[in-house]
Amino acid sequence: MKSTIKITIMFMAILVSSTIKAQTLPPLGFDYNALEPFIDAKTMEIHYTKHHQGYVNNLNKAIEGTGLEKLTIENILKNVSKYSEIVRNNAGGHYNHSLFWTILTPKKSTEPSQHFIKAVNEQFGGLENLKKQLMDEASKRFGSGWAWLSVDNNNKLFVSSTANQDNPLMDIVEKQGVPILGIDVWEHAYYLNYQNKRSDYLKAFWNILNWEEVSKRYENIVPKEKFDEWPELKEFHKVMSQTFHPSEEGNLEPIKTRSAEMVAKADSLQKSKIPSEFNKKEVKDAVNKLAIDSKKLHELILAKGTDKVIIKALSDLHDVFHRIVGLCSNEEHH
Ligand SMILES: [Fe+2]
Repeated sequence: MKSTIKITIMFMAILVSSTIKAQTLPPLGFDYNALEPFIDAKTMEIHYTKHHQGYVNNLNKAIEGTGLEKLTIENILKNVSKYSEIVRNNAGGHYNHSLFWTILTPKKSTEPSQHFIKAVNEQFGGLENLKKQLMDEASKRFGSGWAWLSVDNNNKLFVSSTANQDNPLMDIVEKQGVPILGIDVWEHAYYLNYQNKRSDYLKAFWNILNWEEVSKRYENIVPKEKFDEWPELKEFHKVMSQTFHPSEEGNLEPIKTRSAEMVAKADSLQKSKIPSEFNKKEVKDAVNKLAIDSKKLHELILAKGTDKVIIKALSDLHDVFHRIVGLCSNEEHH
């Protein structure tokens, strides 16, 4: 009896684990009329409920029973050269539109994040240049297709365009990457309101683009390092870790020879501009304490204090440093 139950449970587990979820239309996140006057309600409704739903339905039909339904949409796209044209068009259509809805917003003037804009400035010479390149790709694309901003394998941004429902994830495009912004230039995206005037639609597009979402997508691929904008803190940390950790093992040589350097690093940390996201009184106070205590430690060493006294002072200094890191980590990002 017991073993029958066991077998039944195992069988049920196999059934559950092999249950395949069909691809579904993701929620839109705003009303059809929310993007007016830039995109009209009728266009949104048809685009979402007819075109996108159509890609989802056709994709599910095409992959049913082929084993492909067990794969993520990204995995299908990465090997799309192996599959039929129907899969290519509809998997592309489903992925592209799912991305597209998330980067549109009724919110007014969203801003790119610091981390993202830094990359844009370095790699495109400014946001306006990037927009110009995207507009250029989008208007040059003959017939139906998309213009993209993507991140390549070396974490570099690049602009491209693809025909039909192809996209940069696919193994059939000239340059592969992960798209973080896509502009739909199919006529179904703008024809009701703009007719043949694609360039008017493209100009309007920037009013409803969600730079926060694009930045988030960028940062998911190229994460920000917490203290990138506070190099003086990183510099101090370097000397701290190279002197404190040996001292824990009884080796006081590093701190005895580098205490003046530690004072200098603490000094420049004290003089540095605290990045706005960490700038609060407790952090400022702790940084000041770090500078004072570094000097005291240096004086102790010059005065040939006992090892015990030096270890205690260094360990206290290490605590102050970690208090700063802790305070910065609890700070809300904005
Ligand atoms: Fe579309």
